Amino acid sequence: MPRASVPSLLVLATALISVGGTAWQVVCSQEPPNTTISAESYGLPPLPASALGPRGAADPPPGRPYFVGSASCATSNCHGGPTGEGRKQGSEYSWWAQDPHSRAYYTLLGKDSQAIVARLRWSQPAHLAEGCLVCHATGDDQAIRAIPHRLAEGVGCESCHGAASEWLDLHVGGAWWAASQAEKQRTGFINTDDLRVRAKMCSDCHVGSSDRAVNHDLYAAGHPPLAFEMSAYHTLLPKHWRRDEDKRRHGETFEAQLWLRGQFAAADAALGRLEQFATDQDAAWPELAEYNCYSCHHELAEPSWRRDPAHGVGRPGSLVWEAPYAELLAAVIPGEEDHALRRELGLLRAAMHESLPRRETVRAAVQRVRRHLARLANEVGDHEASPAALSEQLRRLVQVDSPDATARWSDSTQRYLGVVALRQAVIDVAAAQPELRPPWLEPVGRELVQLRQRLVFPQGYLSPRGRSAQQLEALATSLAAIGELLEAR
Ligand code: HEC
Ligand code: HEC
Ligand code: HEC
Ligand code: HEC
Repeated sequence: MPRASVPSLLVLATALISVGGTAWQVVCSQEPPNTTISAESYGLPPLPASALGPRGAADPPPGRPYFVGSASCATSNCHGGPTGEGRKQGSEYSWWAQDPHSRAYYTLLGKDSQAIVARLRWSQPAHLAEGCLVCHATGDDQAIRAIPHRLAEGVGCESCHGAASEWLDLHVGGAWWAASQAEKQRTGFINTDDLRVRAKMCSDCHVGSSDRAVNHDLYAAGHPPLAFEMSAYHTLLPKHWRRDEDKRRHGETFEAQLWLRGQFAAADAALGRLEQFATDQDAAWPELAEYNCYSCHHELAEPSWRRDPAHGVGRPGSLVWEAPYAELLAAVIPGEEDHALRRELGLLRAAMHESLPRRETVRAAVQRVRRHLARLANEVGDHEASPAALSEQLRRLVQVDSPDATARWSDSTQRYLGVVALRQAVIDVAAAQPELRPPWLEPVGRELVQLRQRLVFPQGYLSPRGRSAQQLEALATSLAAIGELLEAR
């Protein structure tokens, strides 16, 4: 589960900001803001430059757009204005400085990261290891890796908005406002306004992808598990953009669209990761992180609910492949494609449940599922869902048709988060049109509080503790109760 608190960062005017000599200087000629990030702001000792790798010249890699660095965005009349009174426009940099992404690199210098790589016996410390930097820093240019203050920006502006070398000149000139999205994208600017693009961008780091992955080795060494849900993570982020602007552009059902696009993107990212593990002959196989963690990590108890066909997860002793996103989509989306998707998912699951899964079979099955999902994602379209369609989706979301679903913590948690997102969309719709406010909003809200309590790990535990048949039944009862409240209208 995501943690809700992000430590409040401070405001230091350390000279981490460098100034180059490009066109933006003409427009953004003022002083950089005094909101900047540094090791001290995270309670870490100051960085000796030597800790950051060799200093090198910033020779941009030839032939492709390169990263110019977040500092280029930071002057006070561009994106570095003050955040006072909830101001967003013009103060994006200052908001980002309070966003966990700005400390992603400093995390690698901390004790936890040092311990992780020591346990992995990697030859490099975390802050120099490509296996960590792929997600905790911006881009993958080795030339930029060599520039301490660039590396230190962590997940900077260009991680999400695209390498700026080709678009910065256009951006700081008046022509930007007149340019079409297509023109902007040709220069490498990422259209984060498009929710598919936005969800893919977040999922590539938060779920993993073919070139970024957290595997069981990293988990065993202490990396927090990557469990992602787009709408929840989007809500948790101290955003440098306005939610009401998102709703103005995407409609009042924005949160529901975000959830759905998030599920598609996360499903594809998780499958891309699996495809890569199956393809890469040097990767461990089968990759344990692809299976339900609690297939292996659970208490041995007598009697054991896991052996009970009504609650257990498959045949006792078998590994359970984990595909929360794809499975949930197959359950929630109506239509023809759904049957085909379920069939393909079933074949993939069977391949993953072999005692020694065959890489080739898994790879081919993954590719088929990804193709189905891509087609489905297009069919669903970006139209604004009606409140009736939302209620229908909600009903499907809480309808648990496989007996083992609630035994998988991840599945129940994704269902819970989905209900939260879709209910929020209904609340937003009803705020604009009170006559559409359904009577179930409050009772479902109360049931959600209970469901959440049943899912949260007890303090100090990193897994669902002491699960019993009764606890699993309580989860199923909660979901069914929500279903009944929805029916009551
Ligand atoms: C380049 C990789 C990358 C991208 C892209 C990315 N993130 Fe992150 N995100 C991270 C890393 C790494 C952390 C952990 C930062 C730390 O604490 O060191 C993180 C942390 C977070 C957190 C805080 C989680 C917690 O436990 O407190 C939230 C929320 C979050 N990201 C949401 C998002 C959203 C929403 C998007 C897309 C709009 C996104 N991220 C895109 C890498 C990324
Ligand atoms: C696939 C991308 C990815 C890779 C590779 C990766 N991380 Fe992370 N890491 C994340 C994300 C995303 C988070 C935030 C997780 C969350 O809260 O949901 C995170 C969180 C962390 C945290 C916890 C931060 C906090 O605020 O508590 C530590 C420590 C960490 N990573 C260290 C490492 C180290 C060390 C490596 C390399 C051995 C590494 N990471 C590799 C994506 C990645
Ligand atoms: C974790 C990903 C992420 C990072 C890092 C990030 N952004 Fe954004 N940014 C987004 C998303 C998502 C949106 C909302 C979608 C949109 O408006 O296009 C956004 C919106 C914006 C907007 C438009 C706001 C509006 O009012 O419409 C600006 C300007 C912006 N970002 C600038 C920056 C700057 C400057 C930085 C670095 C200091 C930065 N962003 C870092 C993801 C990110
Ligand atoms: C196929 C069985 C299997 C699966 C599935 C599995 N693990 Fe493990 N895991 C192991 C084994 C075996 C060890 C090594 C035993 C030990 O060190 O006690 C281990 C060790 C660990 C450790 C370090 C040892 C400890 O007890 O702290 C962590 C943390 C961990 N796994 C997390 C996970 C997470 C998170 C997942 C799901 C994403 C997962 N595992 C899935 C078999 C598995």
